[in-house]
Amino acid sequence: MPEKKIFDIAIIGGGPGGYVAAIKAAQLGKSVALIEKDHLGGTCLNVGCIPTKTLLSNASVLHQIKRAAEFGIEVGPVAIHYEKMVTRKNQVIAKMRAGLEGLMKSNKVTVFRGTASFESPHDLKVMGTDNLFIRADKIIIATGSIPFDIKAFPCDHNRILNSTSILELTHIPKTLAIVGGGYIGCEFASLFQELGTKVTILEALPTILAAQGPSVAQFMTKALTARGIEIRTNVKVESIEKGHDHVKIRTTDGSLDTEYALVAVGRKVYIEGLALEKAALSLNEKGILPVNEKMETATPHIYAIGDVTGQFMLAHVASHQGIIAAMNASGFEAFAHYEAVPAVVFTAPEIATVGLTLEAATAKGYTATQGTFPFLALGKAQAGLDTEGFAQIISDKKTGQILGAIVIGHEASNLIAEMALAIQNELTLESILETIHAHPTMAESWHEAAALASEMPIHLPPRIRR
Ligand code: NAI
Repeated sequence: MPEKKIFDIAIIGGGPGGYVAAIKAAQLGKSVALIEKDHLGGTCLNVGCIPTKTLLSNASVLHQIKRAAEFGIEVGPVAIHYEKMVTRKNQVIAKMRAGLEGLMKSNKVTVFRGTASFESPHDLKVMGTDNLFIRADKIIIATGSIPFDIKAFPCDHNRILNSTSILELTHIPKTLAIVGGGYIGCEFASLFQELGTKVTILEALPTILAAQGPSVAQFMTKALTARGIEIRTNVKVESIEKGHDHVKIRTTDGSLDTEYALVAVGRKVYIEGLALEKAALSLNEKGILPVNEKMETATPHIYAIGDVTGQFMLAHVASHQGIIAAMNASGFEAFAHYEAVPAVVFTAPEIATVGLTLEAATAKGYTATQGTFPFLALGKAQAGLDTEGFAQIISDKKTGQILGAIVIGHEASNLIAEMALAIQNELTLESILETIHAHPTMAESWHEAAALASEMPIHLPPRIRR
């Protein structure tokens, strides 16, 4: 009979939701068990954000080398050693994993290795490297999500890949078809196109990146097409036949042969083996585990955070929810808020958004206006040959309150932080205009976008003559 250990809080899943919740709860003085069946860091560190961004960094170096001549630099023949890129990716993951192990130790979080399942609303069974029972006053479910599989052509991890198995490729494909033009599809399209693959995106909707709104979708369709990525929209994939060294894809508009197919049509919550019913819990009709703003499930001492709650499916949202759940589980009161959730798609060019689009703001009843500053008019962008893209602020015409922002182009992923801060703190265009932005920087584009939204541009001709 395995032993039974007692903790204040048990957390199931060691991704960016679970491990952050564990640290926070430990900081608040609780005894914390973190149960993970695999590596700490979850999808984000092991098969998501970090590996893809490491590979994309390689692609970005290659991009700069390819255009060295534009900077007056001549380079010799360029050779790509993909296996070295993969090795570097694995080294980055290993370093970060070791860092997390250290963080758990230093915060006195007890990590158990195994699969947890509910025995009762307060009891968990852990089976794996560690075998034990855990009784906890509060439990946080942070089990994440897995790639959605299509029944007609499930991933075989050989020719039909998903976002996890594509990371195991040891060579650069000559041709790649990507089913789904969302976050994952477009990021991998950018990566492999830069490395020399002929990429075709097959998207069922009328546009790629539909969730990012029409202005992003339009801009990115042009930008990715200009780079050589073929984008087919309004296309349904009917079947994928596997050959020895290729796949034959039949679609509603024809067929194509490629070396691999990547299926990136969304992710679904992962609750395998959890036995939620023993905690009086179940997924709702949308297939997610519903929570309130305190991250409480229908069984109030049990919390859920991250992808399993089906909200946003972003690592940083999981971490935010982790802190909220840990605080509530530790006897404090905290509420999750989602008005200013930045979202970044690490394509080339990068896309970053926060808050409302113009369309969403108008639909909410605001008299919304926007100011869009093209990077073409920015000194720092010209200096670095980074003139593709724009910064756009969406604001309320009546009050000047900033409601949303979109930035596409160089450093978009970092630039969005200023607008997240502005929206979170209900700042107005005036606040941005009064803030001195360093020159010459990409961030100056926010100052200009705010000036444009106020119809007082400094570095562009006036839109409205007074
Ligand atoms: P997604 O929801 O972003 O995109 C899936 C796309 O597939 C949609 O455009 C959809 O219309 C299309 N689609 C669905 N069924 C299809 C079919 N049968 N044929 C053709 N197209 C079809 O999902 P994705 O890209 O798989 O990403 C999953 C989640 O992972 C996202 O919700 C995102 O939050 C997260 N993620 C975040 C990243 C980031 O923050 N940079 C990067 C990668 C993923």
